[in-house]
Amino acid sequence: MTSSTISDLLSKQNTLQEVQVKGWVRTFRANRFIALNDGSTLNNIQCVVDFENTDEAILKRITTGAAVSIKGTLTESQGKGQNVEIQVTSLEILGDSDPESYPIQPKKHSFEFLRENAHLRTRTNTFSAVMRLRSSLSFAIHKYFNENGFYYMHTPIITGSDAEGAGEMFHVTNLNLKNPPLTETGEIDYKEDFFGKETNLTVSGQLEAEAYAMSLGKVYTFGPTFRAENSNTSRHLAEFWMIEPEVAFMDLAGNMDLAEDFMKSVLSYILKHNREDLEFLEKRLLDEEKTKPQAERSDMSLIEKINFVVENNFKRVSYTEAIDILKDCKPNKKKKFKYIINEWGADLQSEHERFLVEKHFKCPVILFDYPADIKAFYMRLNEDGKTVRAMDILFPGIGEMVGGSQREERLDVLKEKMKALNIDEEELWWYLDLRKYGTAVHSGFGLGFERLVMFATGMGNIRDVIPFPRTPQNADF
Ligand code: 4AD
Ligand code: MG
Repeated sequence: MTSSTISDLLSKQNTLQEVQVKGWVRTFRANRFIALNDGSTLNNIQCVVDFENTDEAILKRITTGAAVSIKGTLTESQGKGQNVEIQVTSLEILGDSDPESYPIQPKKHSFEFLRENAHLRTRTNTFSAVMRLRSSLSFAIHKYFNENGFYYMHTPIITGSDAEGAGEMFHVTNLNLKNPPLTETGEIDYKEDFFGKETNLTVSGQLEAEAYAMSLGKVYTFGPTFRAENSNTSRHLAEFWMIEPEVAFMDLAGNMDLAEDFMKSVLSYILKHNREDLEFLEKRLLDEEKTKPQAERSDMSLIEKINFVVENNFKRVSYTEAIDILKDCKPNKKKKFKYIINEWGADLQSEHERFLVEKHFKCPVILFDYPADIKAFYMRLNEDGKTVRAMDILFPGIGEMVGGSQREERLDVLKEKMKALNIDEEELWWYLDLRKYGTAVHSGFGLGFERLVMFATGMGNIRDVIPFPRTPQNADF
């Protein structure tokens, strides 16, 4: 007999079939009722053991966390909460668990504790639901691009360039760090290194994606990116996944349309396909909210929030308009912000972004046309000579979800910008080539996948939406 998944069995109408199922014991009650889970669904299947005819030694080994294989008859359930259950005819212990030391006891655990047990935390309802949603979202992302004529490209993980110019990169080397080769002036001699130059883990696949957009038209990357920024916040990881579409002949307005349509599409997908997990997480969130003061509680449930994003237009606001709003707002005037907004040109901190989306507009906001000085070198300079065609998409509860722009396609303007920022032309010779040979308007953006998963699951800490998080001082597992 081949074994079935619990998800399959629970959806079966016709009972009295002989079935086999394998999974992990969540609980074992009254020497009789096993709640079994195999990860295929949030729900457990109840397996009823005939304890009078079962060896006592076996009964003792049915403990929380043990892996078991069960054969039995699928029957209509007498108990509440499930339609079907299994009357066990034979049970094999595949792997014992030690009930004393097994970390995932059938009770509420703190997320901190579960982070320390990240290898086992997907045996809880919350984390299995989050990770099933994460998987569905990534599928929906590939589906969206595939159905819209994009090619999936794999951009390099090891790179010689700093795409964001932020300098927060992890070095990649195989030099002996105890005794590295030195140049005559005493610097590390990277000519001796594996690649014959200094290399890093990529912070973004954008520059390479641009090269492919300028030949294949519409491309996207979806891969891991690395940032050595020492920001120990609930929204930053040192290793995170980014989705980066890049499209030839598309301007900033097209970029905004694409980003909005894309996000609505992938969120609709999970509303349709992951109802059970979403409803579970929604309930979890409601319980969590009850512990908060009234003023901090959200007026929408998780599914309502997702629906709201799917059904409403994102608000498009220029940086200049945003600054006017911020300058005049209460928390700025009453000096409640940590960083007071005094004048045009100020970089927006997350407190300002959150004010705009959560208090002022109360919906996702696309901020565009930022001052050139606070944005990356590759962004298209506007005719005013001081702003660039950048866009950030801000989400309630998350802050920045997307960062993107129309790219500077004019060789002379780009070169001038690089010179002003001391970016080596020799390093990016190939990037400049794209402007020399058949240059054209093109645009793209980067969406932080974990921030999307946070929004979709209502989880408050980015460490809880990626299987094994990497953060400062932490690379366990
Ligand atoms: O705004 P960023 O830095 O944009 C870029 O890297 C562009 N090259 C993308 C492009 O145009 N192709 O990063 C994009 C997004 C952010 O909006 C945020 O959602 C996410 O990546 N992000 C992070 N997510 C988790 N941890 C971090 N440390 C992140 N840094 C950025
Ligand atoms: Mg950004």
